[in-house]
Amino acid sequence: MINAGWRSNRFLGLSALGSLLALILGCTPSHPQSTFDTLGPVAKSQLDLFYLIFWVAVVVFIAVGGAFLYAAIRYRRRRGQGDPEQTHGNTKLEIVWTVIPAIVLIAIAIPTIITIFDNADAPILPKDGGLLIEATGHQWWFEFRYPDSDVVTANEMHIPVGEPVTVNLDSVDVIHSFWIPKLAGKVDMVPNNPNHLWLMADEPGVYYGQCAEFCGISHANMRFKVIAQPRAEFDAWLLAQAALPFEPVDPLAIE
Ligand code: CUA
Repeated sequence: MINAGWRSNRFLGLSALGSLLALILGCTPSHPQSTFDTLGPVAKSQLDLFYLIFWVAVVVFIAVGGAFLYAAIRYRRRRGQGDPEQTHGNTKLEIVWTVIPAIVLIAIAIPTIITIFDNADAPILPKDGGLLIEATGHQWWFEFRYPDSDVVTANEMHIPVGEPVTVNLDSVDVIHSFWIPKLAGKVDMVPNNPNHLWLMADEPGVYYGQCAEFCGISHANMRFKVIAQPRAEFDAWLLAQAALPFEPVDPLAIE
């Protein structure tokens, strides 16, 4: 009996350690979907906001935890002690613990609201010549349309590097969520309720995107790639996609 208990305790301990390790590994900046290695201005502003809120939370945690520990040790029950003096309410204390959280919430709310408005629209709007891509969520894939050139792709979005891109978001079935951890997101793709976001890649490369809203059994497989390339390469790609399909001339292929 003792042996079995010891074994299950060890199993619990090991699983807890494993889960903690997996959680911490998710924070490594080199991970392809890490939000801690941002490569675009939108994701960068979101990360800056995260750090601000994180450090405010750390200060609150230390202050509240410290006060709690102090009170638990300083006023602990001692041998031979009767019931402590009974009190009701403390106006000064109640004002302090209402005002301080209110100040903390305002301090967090102001940069949060500024970030939300800053990230709402691209610095160059589609009507002023900015690139527009229409993204549509399907169970379980992403459709990308380039309305200016009639190009449609699946699960692969090409963008010119260093240029702001507006992405209109829509869905044909259920709610999905559009997220490229290193660039921008998450914004929901809601049927009959068009949303949009903008993004920009600072460096050329392949960025990994992911549906971030549970949308059915293949939700985890609903992924896409963002290929950021220099403008000339992007234009060439778009032109090649818009070209008519290659006509076979080999008689074997024609038959
Ligand atoms: Cu689409 Cu999850």
